[in-house]
Amino acid sequence: MHVPGSGGMHPASCEGFAAGNTDTKLPAADKPVGWAAERAFGMRVKIIGSAAGGGFPQWNCNYRLSRAARAGMPGVHSRTQSSVAVSADGTGWVLFNASPDIRQQIAQAPELQPAADAPLRSTPIRAVVLTNADVDHVAGLLSLRERQPFAIYASAQVLATLEANSIFNVLDPSIVPRRLLAPMEEVAIRGADGHPTGVVVGSFPVPGKVALYLEQGGDPGADFSSDTGDTIGVRISGADGRGAVFYVPGCARIDAALRMRLADAACLLFDGTVYTDDEMITARVGQKTGARMGHTAMSGEAGSIAGLADVKIGRRIFIHINNTNPVLDENSAEHAAVKAAGWEVAADGMEMEF
Ligand code: MLT
Ligand code: MN
Repeated sequence: MHVPGSGGMHPASCEGFAAGNTDTKLPAADKPVGWAAERAFGMRVKIIGSAAGGGFPQWNCNYRLSRAARAGMPGVHSRTQSSVAVSADGTGWVLFNASPDIRQQIAQAPELQPAADAPLRSTPIRAVVLTNADVDHVAGLLSLRERQPFAIYASAQVLATLEANSIFNVLDPSIVPRRLLAPMEEVAIRGADGHPTGVVVGSFPVPGKVALYLEQGGDPGADFSSDTGDTIGVRISGADGRGAVFYVPGCARIDAALRMRLADAACLLFDGTVYTDDEMITARVGQKTGARMGHTAMSGEAGSIAGLADVKIGRRIFIHINNTNPVLDENSAEHAAVKAAGWEVAADGMEMEF
């Protein structure tokens, strides 16, 4: 399933990433019409879903924040589940994770809908890159059936999970190829037809855990942690080296390796699931800490704000925000603290260009 490219050094190659199946020097015939002109605008990044699993408000949640969102309280905005869309040529898009809300997310993003002059069945979505096999990141694949070609990229572990769950065969691999995102290699993301999208992804394992439904027994006290590729972070850049946007929606711990990797990022989209590690317990909606769920807290000595404070990063944005996280209320002290520390809180529809 691994699609080898023609190799060649990538101008954006950074230390630690090998230029693997990168093929960024497109022959003229491979360039879509308008490619050069559109490329001059850089790489577009659109946050199409900024909430963690369950979304905000979550369907069965009666905690004060979900109630405030339902009531339309000022400064408390609803959010769909975890997904980001990236385009390097202004027409084709690569999704990073396919959330259960993908149908709504496409309905809210005209650039992800079939173009007016496109064939009767078509999509500008050329590929989906998965950062883990959690429900909030893979369930949307099921909504992308209809024998529509695009490519799926994921780690070996996540590909094995898709393989083991036959429901994903609604995406016939002969139409929707599944490709390995080899760790520590820069991979030129291609559509199902093999055409480069201009989006280049380097992936690296981060401390995380296996997907919830893969936990045998589900004991809240048990340790299902993994740092071998069940959860990955990705470095996203355009074919000309623009970008270096890191997307890490799940990460259980900030360690030296991660801090080194993130240095000099133009932008970091980072795990903002919980503000405090025991937040779900104190909110009385669950028994698990953030760490047990594979998510480092924003606050505290071991938290992401402190852990990344002295790492040089252009923009730092929390994403994958759980419905218990007080930063969801823009009028909260926690929201103010996050902003004062130089972080932004992602909202659906937020767009950036690099
Ligand atoms: C997570 O991010 O921890 C998962 O999305 C939780 C879940 O599967 O509900
Ligand atoms: Mn999640």
